[in-house]
Amino acid sequence: MKKIRKVLCTITAAALMAVTFTACSNSSSSGDGEKKGEIKFGTNAEFPPFEYVVAKGVIGEFDGIDMAIAKQIADDNDKEAKIENMEFDSLLVALDNGKIDAAIAGMTVTDERKEKVDFSDTYYNAKQVMIVKEDSDIAKASDMKDKKIVVIQGYTGETCVKELGYSYQSFKKGTEAILEIVNGKCDVVVIDSATADKYVKDNKGLKIVEDNDQFANEEYAIAVKKGNKELLDQINKTLKKMKDDGKIAELATKYLDAEDK
Ligand code: ARG
Repeated sequence: MKKIRKVLCTITAAALMAVTFTACSNSSSSGDGEKKGEIKFGTNAEFPPFEYVVAKGVIGEFDGIDMAIAKQIADDNDKEAKIENMEFDSLLVALDNGKIDAAIAGMTVTDERKEKVDFSDTYYNAKQVMIVKEDSDIAKASDMKDKKIVVIQGYTGETCVKELGYSYQSFKKGTEAILEIVNGKCDVVVIDSATADKYVKDNKGLKIVEDNDQFANEEYAIAVKKGNKELLDQINKTLKKMKDDGKIAELATKYLDAEDK
């Protein structure tokens, strides 16, 4: 009798262990069994200092201000941050069809986008600026009128130039646009201020021209699927903390000065 009980005990123990084991290996694909699930962040990692690819970044090969924020949001909720890198234009669709939980991509809040997604509190102020050659005579937005203008497809910079009514060429990546101006194939690139700072810092012979009468203030926020209040609250909580304790300002300085991009 005793022997049977002992055998039964062993079997039960083994079964329990098997269950625990399966549960562990199912809970996380990254090998970190401690975390309770993941948050899938979509981005377009072509936008230094907010998101770009390096050998070793803050989340996998992804680095930048936004990536550090994404990691913090996940950490604060005991989750793993996963990055889905895609074209900027695809982010809102990916939110809608559930491919990603949140889009963090230096994304400017606009009325048009607000119709499609919900935005978090804003975390960064930017504006459109013009990148020109050092000897350029472009001094204000209207000077671009008969110049060769380059924008990045789907960015607010494109909307701004479109509204001015000027013709332009659009590229998929900031780096492609910068190559055009560096090689003298265009006269001006219209893009967000912090990204422009980064490009001008890393490429010789370029300067930034601002026109604050023409280009309005823009604010970056994180987007979630309409109605995803739970995630939005979690995001806002972390953003508030990071704004209050100066962490976002600190990240901005750090990544603007980063030498690798
Ligand atoms: N702020 C601009 C916009 O919202 C450009 C953002 C580009 N971001 C990126 N990760 N490529 O349209």
